[in-house]
Amino acid sequence: MNNHQGNQERFSLHGQWSSRMTFILAVTGSAIGLGNIWKFPYIAGDNGGGAFVLIYLICIFVIGFPIMVSEIMIGRKGRRNPITSMKILGLEEQGSENWKWVGLIGLMAGFIILSYYSVIAGWTLHYFKMSLLGELSNLNSESVQTIFGELTGSAITQLMYHTAFMAITVAIIAKGIKDGLERAVKLMMPGLLFILIVLLFYSILQGDFMAGVNFLLMPDFTKITSQSVLAAMGQAFFTLSLGMGCIVMYGAYLPKNESIIGTTTTIIFCDTIIALLAGLVIFPIVFQFGLKPTDGPGLIFLTLPLAFNEITGGYIFSGLFFILLAFAAITSALSLLEPSVAWMIENKNYSRGKSALIIGVLIWLLGFLSIFSFNILSGFTFWKGTLFDNFDYLASNILLPLSGLLFTIFASWIMKKENSIEELSDVSRRVYKLWRFGARYIAPIGVILVFLNAIGII
Ligand code: TRP
Repeated sequence: MNNHQGNQERFSLHGQWSSRMTFILAVTGSAIGLGNIWKFPYIAGDNGGGAFVLIYLICIFVIGFPIMVSEIMIGRKGRRNPITSMKILGLEEQGSENWKWVGLIGLMAGFIILSYYSVIAGWTLHYFKMSLLGELSNLNSESVQTIFGELTGSAITQLMYHTAFMAITVAIIAKGIKDGLERAVKLMMPGLLFILIVLLFYSILQGDFMAGVNFLLMPDFTKITSQSVLAAMGQAFFTLSLGMGCIVMYGAYLPKNESIIGTTTTIIFCDTIIALLAGLVIFPIVFQFGLKPTDGPGLIFLTLPLAFNEITGGYIFSGLFFILLAFAAITSALSLLEPSVAWMIENKNYSRGKSALIIGVLIWLLGFLSIFSFNILSGFTFWKGTLFDNFDYLASNILLPLSGLLFTIFASWIMKKENSIEELSDVSRRVYKLWRFGARYIAPIGVILVFLNAIGII
């Protein structure tokens, strides 16, 4: 079988994105989500602000960028789910099947992440409902804590929303993600950006903006520990959806003539802007109302209702914000689920619906443990804290960087140079060399140094 036929056959499994725009939208939809708006501010708050943010940005550009390019490249060459793509390419390039394990680590990470991601997305659905019913009015810094405490204290309420969110995600995946995804992302992104900008004005005019900016952007390196460097790297992987294989998966649908470097630049730019914007909105409110940056996973649910509460017509913005955030979470959740489902379809020959249902139920069940971490099991702590803390730490800080590291090593050391040149043929020689240097040396060495540092070896 010549290469051309091979590619034809691989195409037929999935079809392709109708255009470069759809691909960008899908990957941006995957990247932008709770990671930007919920997780980034609270992790930045937990890790002391400015210096963390600086390290996070460095990780995005010097580690995230080359790895994202590597993952898209692997996807476009492999044309299957991440495990099979790695298996096929490993055989083609090196005669070894073992690279499939990298895809498997990624899939595992996605499995774990979606289990708690859905719980948090459930929180946003609850806040949407409360906005609609006018239950988020006359708030002060105590009542927001009570409301949030009531939600996290109730396993039943969380279970309901977690179930709803997983059901929606599974239903969309069961139908196939291409239809509708484009439209959803096109509406949601500008909407979310618009409300964040309204909120930014609020924070500038009414919040303690200078305190917020100082906290977020002024590096204070005394607050940096090896664990916060690891957290910054983990967050870079998480927010760009790297290491898990969903970018590989989406790359499999990218037409041959589209620019990988160009699209990566756009996606990273959008993702970073949204995260920074969320931080700039939230910290001024934190300081104005005497909340604490270290308030943890509840940070946006404590701060934003306070701001909406004071804006005229704020309940409309509030409802809109939480529902758009839920949409942003859905487009991310789709990318967390799709690779495992594609794997099951291609390997077990199950139908799409059956595969989505089986995997969805398993993830849904695992999610119970995260729900219980906030109530009946909140006292059950080990290693990094509650079960929820451990899931997030394991997936974001260990599994994602580990498989991201292996993806980039594969693309830059194992794949033949002609092949990567062909994938990046639209850019100049200099840009190609820059990618290759980043992917061969900077990103791998960066990840390894951060790991070694975190376990105390250096
Ligand atoms: N990046 C998404 C967010 O910021 C979450 C996400 C989607 C993700 N797909 C992923 C995280 C794959 C890690 C790996 O909300």
